[in-house]
Amino acid sequence: MNIQAKNLNKNYIQEKGPDLEVLKDVNLEIPLGQKIALAGPSGAGKSTLIHILGLMDRPTSGKVFIDGIDCFLMDDNYLCNMRKKSIGFLFQFHYLLPDFTVLENVLIPVWENKISKKSYALEILNRVGLYSKINCLPNELSGGQQQRVALARSLINNPKIIFADEPTGNLDRTIGVEIENLLFEFSTNLETTLVLVTHNQELAFRTDRVINIVDGRMVV
Ligand SMILES: Nc1ncnc2c1ncn2[C@@H]1O[C@H](COP(=O)(O)OP(=O)(O)O)[C@@H](O)[C@H]1O
Ligand SMILES: [Mg+2]
Repeated sequence: MNIQAKNLNKNYIQEKGPDLEVLKDVNLEIPLGQKIALAGPSGAGKSTLIHILGLMDRPTSGKVFIDGIDCFLMDDNYLCNMRKKSIGFLFQFHYLLPDFTVLENVLIPVWENKISKKSYALEILNRVGLYSKINCLPNELSGGQQQRVALARSLINNPKIIFADEPTGNLDRTIGVEIENLLFEFSTNLETTLVLVTHNQELAFRTDRVINIVDGRMVV
């Protein structure tokens, strides 16, 4: 899917003092299938940008077009459906549900179709090396395994765009690299657009384009 952001601004209202201006006139276009790394210092606005591009939050002003659709003209219900249908998310924290098994966690985004999606869930879990763990609970897994489940969950709806916000920031370097490699492989094979926030220079180097965000602005 093609993503276009036009004149995005995001302000947070503060109890004391002026509004906090977090994104300042961000303009960007990500063609279908492109892999983008978002880099920049902590607090620069990377997560805020990914939340808006991923339709989880609305900008204060500006527009996001996904495949030409002016998304923020739509109501929350429409945005929610668009996310469910087309977008996969992977965060630094796995957000797995503690009382659900590995297999059930992967099926959460497609719960209404969980029976028909089960074989695909098993296929992805096999691909991420967790076939033997499908009936385990999240707290029976290592941090790297938990993040592999989150990766599998982000793929269950066949997303056209994957947003990954420092997905391996909490993991040991070697384990992190394995997961990043899997993410890249899936994104390539499934021909998704990938927007990845990372501090990992090597990984950023492998993307089609690196966008630096500094103090809420894109820096070329
Ligand atoms: N919900 C929020 N309410 C108020 N301020 C926020 C909120 N989310 C983020 N911020 C502020 O916005 C700025 C950018 O945050 P963030 O997008 O998380 O940066 P990054 O991901 O680049 O580290 C920070 O100053 C942060 O404190
Ligand atoms: Mg962040």
